[in-house]
Amino acid sequence: MEVLSVASEVFPLIKTGGLADVAGALPAALKPHGVRMRTLMPGYPVVMQKLKKPQKVGGFTNLFGHPASILAVDHRGLDLLVLDAPELFDRDGGPYLDKRGLDYTDNFRRFAALSLAAAEIAGGLLPSWKPDLVHVHDWQAALTPVYMRFGPAHGMPVVLTIHNIAFQGQFGPEVFPQLALPPEAFSVNFVEYFGDVGFLKGGLQTANAITTVSPSYAQEILTAEFGMGFDGLLTARLSHLSGIVNGIDTDVWNPQTDPHIAANYGPTTLKKREINRKALSEHFGFDNAPGPIFCVVSRLTWQKGMDVLAEVIDDIVENGGKLAVLGSGDAALESAFLTAAARHPGRVGMVTGYNEPLSHLMQAGADAILIPSRFEPCGLTQLYGLRYGCVPIVAHTGGLADTIIDANEAALAARVATGFQFSPVSAASLRQALRRAFATYRQPKVWARLQAQGMKSDVSWDLSAHRYADLYSSLLAKG
Ligand code: ADP
Ligand code: GLC
Repeated sequence: MEVLSVASEVFPLIKTGGLADVAGALPAALKPHGVRMRTLMPGYPVVMQKLKKPQKVGGFTNLFGHPASILAVDHRGLDLLVLDAPELFDRDGGPYLDKRGLDYTDNFRRFAALSLAAAEIAGGLLPSWKPDLVHVHDWQAALTPVYMRFGPAHGMPVVLTIHNIAFQGQFGPEVFPQLALPPEAFSVNFVEYFGDVGFLKGGLQTANAITTVSPSYAQEILTAEFGMGFDGLLTARLSHLSGIVNGIDTDVWNPQTDPHIAANYGPTTLKKREINRKALSEHFGFDNAPGPIFCVVSRLTWQKGMDVLAEVIDDIVENGGKLAVLGSGDAALESAFLTAAARHPGRVGMVTGYNEPLSHLMQAGADAILIPSRFEPCGLTQLYGLRYGCVPIVAHTGGLADTIIDANEAALAARVATGFQFSPVSAASLRQALRRAFATYRQPKVWARLQAQGMKSDVSWDLSAHRYADLYSSLLAKG
């Protein structure tokens, strides 16, 4: 089966969040299931620089006013199709934001171009290859099924995966005439959304199947609280909606071989974590006092509950704990953590920015990872935590609820517990979870059992890849 995957970021070429990890890992995970997945992504400068011997396999004389090429290239086993459209993607900033942190004003055109290119590939643009099915990710690729509906690929099945329904790609009605869609596409059955143009809206209306990245989040987005305006539409399309939990790339995230950590270790050599703990402590300037090291590797945003965490930092320190934060995001949150680090030298440390190698050392050296998200479609850092023996302390929501087994009495007795869950997302309930974590940490045998149990959890793509492959097959069988 030939599948075209379409994503705005793909690890290891470019990453701002979990979407990149998932888009980067899915093709290899699906291979054993007879799926050949090629991935279409934009040719941002950092991507173009990494390509070795790309081949032009197709192109457009005029894609939204400019010529563009499709380049095929193998990048460490990833079969990529890169949309090389310099007017749209050759920019100084990140994939979505300029250097000042503002959305590019033509994001609608940039990602409409990605979607239109995907639809054209599905319709036979490349002389050498055509997919049987298209799998698109998030709003940036969500216009693909809309373009397909009005083009030669009409009828080919499309799966749309929602990684985060908070990001919807909504633009004013004035962009519609610039999208090269027929007038009837500006209707409630397609992209029209309360008078605006909604990219995700159009995709949710027209995809043959909608998935999201955990079963719990698939339930949550049917409610007004989590649906962010789409609960009604999704309820109407319920029979097409399912939740498939993310896996992780167990080669990239393997403490036994990880090149980014100070000492490799496995379930039987957990003591070696101590070397990573030391390296981490040095990095964050921690003192030698005993007590658990908590870490955070996250976008610093309201979604991630980072304001709630900031409220409990003093309690962590008072109880003898330390906190290492790696992240970037909202200026107010960054400064809250920097201020806390200044207030508690040797106990609280903050590294601002994006640092992939350090994110590995944090999982290998910290005792626990804190994830107090208000909502979390799946979450990947708790899965890395499980694999690295870094005990996850998580809010009971979305994929966090689906992947962590709370260390309650019954789960501890049955030896299945892998972390701590709390709810609601408030300082009081986070404090309560931390209290339980401190108490457990004081019982080294019980803590070690939590770590061991976590390291035994299946966080691979095996099961979920199977589910995607089954979904693809069922859609093709319907065709
Ligand atoms: P989201 O996609 O909502 O940000 P996920 O948990 O799914 O959340 O994925 C986040 C990914 O980004 C993980 O791979 C995590 O390790 C990584 N990450 C987040 N912040 C940083 C950072 N500051 N430095 C390095 N990696 C980071
Ligand atoms: C989104 C979600 C996150 C999920 C990731 C990959 O960024 O916020 O929960 O893990 O996508 O699916």
